[in-house]
Amino acid sequence: MSDMTSTPTKKKVFVRFDLLQRVQHFIFLISFSLLGFTGLPQRYPLSPISTAFFELTGGVEVARNIHHASAIVMMIVSLVHVLEVMYRVMVLSTPISMIPWISDALHVYEDVQYYLGFRRHKGYYGRYSYAEKIEYLALIWGTVVMGLTGFMMWNPISTLRYLPGEAIPAAKAAHGGEAVLAVAAIIIWHFYHVHIKHLNLSMFTGKLSREEMLHEHPAELAAIESGKHEVQIAPTVLRKRQMIYFPLAFVLVAAFSVGFYYFVAFETTAVVTLPQGETVPAFYPLTPTPLPTPTPTPEPVAVTTLTWEAFAGPLAQKKCSMCHGATAMGNVNLTTYADAMKVITPKDSANSKLVIKQNAGGHPGQFTADELTQIKAWIDAGAPEK
Ligand code: HEC
Repeated sequence: MSDMTSTPTKKKVFVRFDLLQRVQHFIFLISFSLLGFTGLPQRYPLSPISTAFFELTGGVEVARNIHHASAIVMMIVSLVHVLEVMYRVMVLSTPISMIPWISDALHVYEDVQYYLGFRRHKGYYGRYSYAEKIEYLALIWGTVVMGLTGFMMWNPISTLRYLPGEAIPAAKAAHGGEAVLAVAAIIIWHFYHVHIKHLNLSMFTGKLSREEMLHEHPAELAAIESGKHEVQIAPTVLRKRQMIYFPLAFVLVAAFSVGFYYFVAFETTAVVTLPQGETVPAFYPLTPTPLPTPTPTPEPVAVTTLTWEAFAGPLAQKKCSMCHGATAMGNVNLTTYADAMKVITPKDSANSKLVIKQNAGGHPGQFTADELTQIKAWIDAGAPEK
């Protein structure tokens, strides 16, 4: 490289990228960065960096909205790029300089020789070196993959009309994998080539000095300086080509707009992530709480409470009052203590009319065996009222 010295007389500057190309690059740069910054934390949501990022920016919903907005911007800039390339190729007859060619294989071979010390110069690149072409093609490939898989995740229901259910997790895996690859390629490959190896700002200034051209695009420089690269197109030809290009471009934009509408507004199926709830320490008792035991069946009432008021009265009310209340069937009324005593002989259950009747069984109102035992006990205890 040291053998190449620029001559002061030739401090010429060459336009490498026009304004439209630089604007495209800038918008792509911004949307790519925003997609990366908001996408990677969604790819690795449990990493402390991601948690900190979400806390700082207001949560995953915010990140997701920025991600979607950036994706829309990137789709539009990609369309602009397609239209621009079409115009260059169809109308201006600009050579398709981004597609790898046989000369690129030769340059690779020459560069390997150069790195091994068998050659004094690297290959004589034209407008784009093979490295630049590969990066460009990788970008196109990446944008297509990200766009398609992004669509599938954005519109899972319409996707599953055509693809099996596995398509969604597959899209997610491809989207995340390609994202990591793209970000790594930019940081390692792109930054190295345009910032570290040699700070090349032509994508922002649009210009390269003659010396830089000599280093990086010698074949192109030679073509420019020999006047060979100029393609002169007659105005009538230009006009004719434009008459084909513009309707085509219009159809393309219309088709894109429809697709774009479907992409963005067709479905609102993305799961809404609710804000994180209150964080409380989980409590696990070391000794397990005993399982709730069924409420014990009431113990037979203690003898001391066997009174008319606490026991026999309420029981008769419950079991006998529909017939032995006001209606007093068989002339028996069991609502008051005094009346009940007419069929009860205190301290002598065996001779109490009530017990005899109940012992006989088959009465339309019957005490249970237990109840009857207690009734007898109550009577034998003197059938106390209180
Ligand atoms: C569906 C109505 C009905 C219910 C409920 C009922 N009885 Fe009677 N009871 C009668 C009728 C009717 C008679 C009269 C005819 C008879 O003696 O069988 C009677 C008669 C009696 C007699 C009088 C029998 C006699 O020899 O004079 C007693 C004592 C008696 N019932 C006790 C009870 C007791 C105690 C209960 C509550 C456990 C009860 N009955 C619930 C309908 C009922």
